Amino acid sequence: MSVPAGVFGGEWHEHDDRWTAVDKYTQSHLHPSTKPYHAALNAALEHSRDKGLPDIATHPVFSKAMALQCLARGVENALEVGTLGGYTSIWIASMNPNIHVDAIEVDPMHAKVANENLERAGVHDRVKITIGEGLDVLPKMLDGVEKGTRAPIGFTYIDADKENNWAYFDLAVKMSSAGALIYVDNIVQRGNIVMEDDTDDGVLGARELVERVGKDPRVEAVVQQTVAEKSYDGFLMAVVL
Ligand code: DHB
Ligand code: MG
Repeated sequence: MSVPAGVFGGEWHEHDDRWTAVDKYTQSHLHPSTKPYHAALNAALEHSRDKGLPDIATHPVFSKAMALQCLARGVENALEVGTLGGYTSIWIASMNPNIHVDAIEVDPMHAKVANENLERAGVHDRVKITIGEGLDVLPKMLDGVEKGTRAPIGFTYIDADKENNWAYFDLAVKMSSAGALIYVDNIVQRGNIVMEDDTDDGVLGARELVERVGKDPRVEAVVQQTVAEKSYDGFLMAVVL
């Protein structure tokens, strides 16, 4: 899949010609433009860019990797915290015809663009966006899970304001079924997670998450470093025990 020009072109992304070439090669074979979901996914990135959303959508390779995790596990209920233009939700819903995704987005303009993208992709009936702060919306969802009026979650993707990573993760664990997966984006931050004098919100949020998750008996977790056309970064992946 070739990404529309300018979507991942931000100067702040760390680029390497080898990473970009490998992405281009593998994507051209594994999800070429002949795939039925290809046009809608690229259209979502282009529409998001045209509407001025920040150039921080999750890279197609990682979005697809999460969509395939849902497929492998037969996940029926997924949760996304910080959906931006809905790009990862479209991947997840496209690869999983029976999945329902609850997506939370704090910015009403982003949510409007996301809904337009979901509609164009034909997955709007299975991806529901709730507009609000994660810390307001998630406790209400948890209440529903605890009362039995809402199904437990099998897959969660957290990609929102990084200072609340731990709070979102903790709530997601409480909403999850045994064996559920939780992914959190932007943990490595070009390696800055280990730069002790880096006090950027994203770095502090990533560090707090890694250190608290490591002591959390409810989960087993790992951080995978990633390189791609977009940047050097990485995910935390946890399995709820
Ligand atoms: C950036 C990237 C992300 O994936 C994100 O969620 C937030 C910010 C960035 O590159 O600045
Ligand atoms: Mg992110």
